[in-house]
Amino acid sequence: MQSITVKAPGRINLIGEHTDYNNGFVLPAAIQMHATAIITKRSDDEIHLTATDLMDSLIIDSLANLRVSEKQWANYIIGVIVQFVKKRKFPTGFDIAITSNVPIGAGLSSSAAIECAVAFGLNELFAFEIDKMELAHMAQKAEHDFAGVQCGIMDQFASMFGKKDQVLLLDCQSMEYQYFPLDSNGYQIILFDTGVKHSLAGSEYNMRRMECEKGVKLMQDKYPKVLSLRDASMQLLDECVDQILYPIVYQRCKYVIEEIERTQIATQDLKANNLKAFGKKMFATHDGLSKLYQVSCNELDVLIDAVRQNENVVGARMMGGGFGGCTINIVKDLHAKDMIKQVQKMYEEKTNKVLTYYIVGIEEGVTIM
Ligand code: GLA
Repeated sequence: MQSITVKAPGRINLIGEHTDYNNGFVLPAAIQMHATAIITKRSDDEIHLTATDLMDSLIIDSLANLRVSEKQWANYIIGVIVQFVKKRKFPTGFDIAITSNVPIGAGLSSSAAIECAVAFGLNELFAFEIDKMELAHMAQKAEHDFAGVQCGIMDQFASMFGKKDQVLLLDCQSMEYQYFPLDSNGYQIILFDTGVKHSLAGSEYNMRRMECEKGVKLMQDKYPKVLSLRDASMQLLDECVDQILYPIVYQRCKYVIEEIERTQIATQDLKANNLKAFGKKMFATHDGLSKLYQVSCNELDVLIDAVRQNENVVGARMMGGGFGGCTINIVKDLHAKDMIKQVQKMYEEKTNKVLTYYIVGIEEGVTIM
């Protein structure tokens, strides 16, 4: 085999936001939008990268010369290659050409899709026999080291392990996971894209992570067994983190502790097909993300307020890292068209911006084409 074509999807997350790096639970699924990587072996030691959509390319003259590039798109790929170099020996160089239809900056994990397509493809093409969980971790590490975002494992995990029509429940502490079917009969999952791409999203994300770690540290001083917010409770938080001394840390931890619990109960709602109860929790998550965790923005809040009282919308919230991107909405099938029109109108009136939307299909994770 000299060449391989792999596609890896973006993801949605039904509930469990900013919980992955706190060892909590997440409930993602892979979607129809995906990145495609065509990887071809070379006879020399060079690496040629192409971003077909951007009509841009980069030549790296040797596997010994892998470093951060000025081209941001290339860093997601180089980051993954570096992970392989740490573990295995490439016998030759290779070409990688990427295309993607995952919208960038929409909170649908366009970068994880690229990382996972490359990781899975290189592993197959060179028969390195690294398992999918480790590949997901390598892709995550690429994001840490080459994109500077200290992300959790959710996006790469969902892209690797997604299954058609199935939602994934991942316990980010044990890394155990289960699939269950999403009975969306009569409902549609609609994403509204604010079109806002916050340039500070990466640094704010890392900041949230540090604030959570600070909370853990304060609890650990008294209770050494608390290793993450997964091990914490509101009682412990109240006892160990002074709201006056550490108001921000307190708020961040409160949101995460509540969200970890909410995700567990919401999962039961979903399994019992109680969409009404599930939807209520989505709104609660949004409020927590907006007020306590402060990763929302005006446009996202406008979109949630626009559907909060709409009886055809079962649940909605901002999705992903935040500061822009999409909201996820569970909407009654029959009323979806009207609802989209209404929300578009309202959004344009309030923000002067055009609102795009995507109807989500839950698809297979990474696959060889
Ligand atoms: C981004 C990160 C994920 C996760 C979400 C928030 O998508 O990449 O690891 O933390 O934000 O839930």
